[in-house]
Amino acid sequence: MSEANKKIGNSRKVFIKTYGCQMNVYDSERMGDSLDSEGYVATETPDDADLILLNTCHIREKAAEKLYSDLGRLRVMREERDPSRPLTIGVTGCVAQAEGAEILRRAPTVDLVVGPQTYHRLPELLRKVHEGQKVVETEYAVEDKFAHLPHHNRRAVQKRGVTAFLTVQEGCDKFCTFCVVPYTRGSEVSRPLDQIMSEARELVDAGVKEITLLGQNVNAWHGVSADGDVLHLGDLLYQLAKIDGLKRLRYTTSHPRDMDDSLIAAHKNLGMLMPYLHLPVQSGSDRILKAMNRQHKADDYLRLIDRIRKARPDIAFSGDFIVGFPGETDEDFEATMKLVQEVGYSSAYSFKYSPRPGTPGATMKDHIEEKVKDERLQRLQALILDQQHQFLQSKIGQRIEVLVEKVGRHEGQMVGRSPWLLPVAVSTNAKIGEIIAVDVTDASSNSFLGRAVN
Ligand code: SAH
Ligand code: SF4
Ligand code: F3S
Repeated sequence: MSEANKKIGNSRKVFIKTYGCQMNVYDSERMGDSLDSEGYVATETPDDADLILLNTCHIREKAAEKLYSDLGRLRVMREERDPSRPLTIGVTGCVAQAEGAEILRRAPTVDLVVGPQTYHRLPELLRKVHEGQKVVETEYAVEDKFAHLPHHNRRAVQKRGVTAFLTVQEGCDKFCTFCVVPYTRGSEVSRPLDQIMSEARELVDAGVKEITLLGQNVNAWHGVSADGDVLHLGDLLYQLAKIDGLKRLRYTTSHPRDMDDSLIAAHKNLGMLMPYLHLPVQSGSDRILKAMNRQHKADDYLRLIDRIRKARPDIAFSGDFIVGFPGETDEDFEATMKLVQEVGYSSAYSFKYSPRPGTPGATMKDHIEEKVKDERLQRLQALILDQQHQFLQSKIGQRIEVLVEKVGRHEGQMVGRSPWLLPVAVSTNAKIGEIIAVDVTDASSNSFLGRAVN
């Protein structure tokens, strides 16, 4: 907060709602930081807020439509408000990028529309709004957004806990035929090494023990060392591992085509790189993979999984699947079921194909009936749930390391993160931020129960 704002006690409140992926979670945090320096304090209650930002997702139709039902509610809230407490409403993120001014037409209650590449300009854009303008800003900024963001707010980092996200790469050049991301986030950009290192140090100084590097295609990250050498994600992980006080590293989301040898070797040689990898494949059918423009075959993926498992035998995989892509036959779907059976995931996300405006998939022939998509989704999800159950059960009796994250529901209980991300409930005196040895004694459908080892 600036001195001027402090003196006049002019603290305004902002409520940010986040839809979509982890990159949006990170963006919401950074928007909060940039508003903090303008005198805005975060609130968890929309009713208290002077400014409400909806940080949106465009990936599937349902995600995008959710925005409009929320805006309907906000319109009512605004109408019922005491006029002495004006409310500003902004839409940020991927729907903002994709629909721009159309949002103002559909929902005139909105004051401000800002795409994901320009939110560092929020304070300046809000000033325009307060002067009475409606603002739409969806240009890809020429300047580096990240270089213009303020430092992390230490209090906010501490409040969020001992794990943190750090975006290192944005955008996508892969153009899978179902996906809006290349259009909403723009082309692939890697943040420079120095910027990432100093942001990571800032997070660790504020108490963060585990960092998850983020990118739409995080393993396409590349940079240059001080000596001019070209660096890949594996090299970045080694650099980060040198930061004193940082205990664990993860990265997400990866594309199978960008898993290079040095990254696979990092899984073998870098103990603090956690044995969990989200590696989406979308389908097990070569015909469908080709139509999706994934640029690899099912067998390439299976061989890749083998190589990574060889480097790190205790690694757990998760994935993303789309059922009912245009032209998907029963046989294609069975190939997906077979691939899932061969891999054995610890968890996975599966979605019904949703045609998105402007993507090649939307205009393809042979769209699949909703009923068929539903049936396939149900079968796939049942298989994935069964694998998740088996994975959890397979760890009972093992001794694992747990990063203590927060106080649990029961007296004396803490909740921590297992190496495979799944939470562990354990009775212990250990403090938040400690890494403790735990014997896994039981498992529920999505978490472990454990006993602390003295
Ligand atoms: N960059 C990541 C995924 C980003 S989108 C990757 O390449 O894997 C997250 C997931 O949403 C995708 O993996 C895909 O499974 C799903 N998805 C994307 N577009 C979709 C669409 N049109 N319909 C249904 N699911 C979709
Ligand atoms: Fe979308 Fe494909 Fe890019 Fe992932 S790799 S963000 S699915 S276009
Ligand atoms: Fe959604 Fe944009 Fe993320 S479309 S999944 S919020 S990159």
